[in-house]
Amino acid sequence: MATKEFPLVPKDVGRIETRFRRIITKIPVPESIPILEQMRTAEPRSMGGQPSVIWDSGEGALVRDPYGNQWIDFSSGVLVTSAGHAHPRIVEAIQEIARNHLYHAYCFPTEIRARLVTKIKSLLPPHLSRIFLLTTGSEAVECAIKLARTMGLKIGGPEKRVIVSFENAFHGRTMGAQLAGGIPSLKAWLGNETADFVQVPYPDGFRCPDMSFEVFTRTLSDKGINPSRVCGVISETYQGCNAFLIPADYARALRKWCDEHRAVLILDEIQAGFGRTGRMFGFEHLGIVPDLAVFGKGISGGMPLSAVVGTEELMNLYGPGEMTSTHSANPICAAAALTNIEIILEENLVENARRLQPVLLESGRKMIEISQGRIGRADGVGLVMALQFVEPQTTNPDPETAWEVVRMSVERGVMLFAPVGVGGSTIKINPPLLITEEQLREGLSVVEEVVAEVCR
Ligand SMILES: Cc1ncc(COP(=O)(O)O)c(C=O)c1O
Repeated sequence: MATKEFPLVPKDVGRIETRFRRIITKIPVPESIPILEQMRTAEPRSMGGQPSVIWDSGEGALVRDPYGNQWIDFSSGVLVTSAGHAHPRIVEAIQEIARNHLYHAYCFPTEIRARLVTKIKSLLPPHLSRIFLLTTGSEAVECAIKLARTMGLKIGGPEKRVIVSFENAFHGRTMGAQLAGGIPSLKAWLGNETADFVQVPYPDGFRCPDMSFEVFTRTLSDKGINPSRVCGVISETYQGCNAFLIPADYARALRKWCDEHRAVLILDEIQAGFGRTGRMFGFEHLGIVPDLAVFGKGISGGMPLSAVVGTEELMNLYGPGEMTSTHSANPICAAAALTNIEIILEENLVENARRLQPVLLESGRKMIEISQGRIGRADGVGLVMALQFVEPQTTNPDPETAWEVVRMSVERGVMLFAPVGVGGSTIKINPPLLITEEQLREGLSVVEEVVAEVCR
């Protein structure tokens, strides 16, 4: 994640005008500085760290500022706007429900909620038959952890409460989500709470070259964890920091291990779900079905909505009124999500992600070649790719080079969010799923050009 600020000093960056990109001012734009400064003055520093561009409007895979500049969006916000920005059907759905119906209903029944959960259910394997709608990804992760702990208590007593997760995992920023996360720098404030949350290496073939499942069992044993105490295992379907899917044979071994030890298998599909990987759900690549899956980001196309889905046994652990949230299935968010899912299906966005995967990955290979060893890995699936910047011939993160590549790409009309992942050294390329091949190729050629210059 970004740990430094992009400068507020306007700079001549040269004029760019193509069909998709337009940079006609200094960057940052001089008129934008007072607005950027207002945020820097009134907000915590943590809200900074993104390129100094005011987002004003968008259309499909393009975003614009109020000053006439336009970018090809390789961020989708943060993997959210799968159906693109300002999709007319999502805009209409939001307006229609607010104008003709309501914008809040707590947990009182609504028709839109019924339609959304029924639609999601129709897409899931039958085993995952219950859908609980929430607001943020972290909230969904918290809920999944709670369900695993509750089940552990029920079937194994108070000792069955260990949650196993993976090194470098990201599951959100609330307390439970950070306990399950695998980024040590985010966990310093958690003290002794971490005792029941154990991380094992993620089989990415890069920072953990041994991709066998033995690493999982060996690490638990080295850490003195008796498998009978494990109530749940949580993993991203692909890790956000490396866009590397859990290998299918590893996933099958993990599924078997969880069944043998009566541990709940939770997949965090907050990035991978709803088409990003070229399948509707990321776990379809793995050949397994989890007991619980959590969704967020691309489920709604832009409005804050998340979901926990799972087996009847797990999802019905709590009684009426015992597992709710004020904004569960907010009608506006639900209307946006339903329409977003319909668009993903009707406009074949999952297929588009699958079709464009080779274009994305080919560019990744090219960037590795031209980076003089500074890109250690370029993994991806569907329409997500992670470029991991490293000190050549090592796996040590190189955040400075990654940051320069983001800065220069933005100055040339390609929108990227600040580097994420291990040591803030991973650049993610994840455009809206409706991006065209022409837009994708143009944006990638800019990032390639920048990588060649920065890594010269
Ligand atoms: C894999 C994963 N899980 C959980 C979260 C947390 O979601 P939210 O920021 O909506 O709380 C994120 C957000 O980046 C994520 O990428």
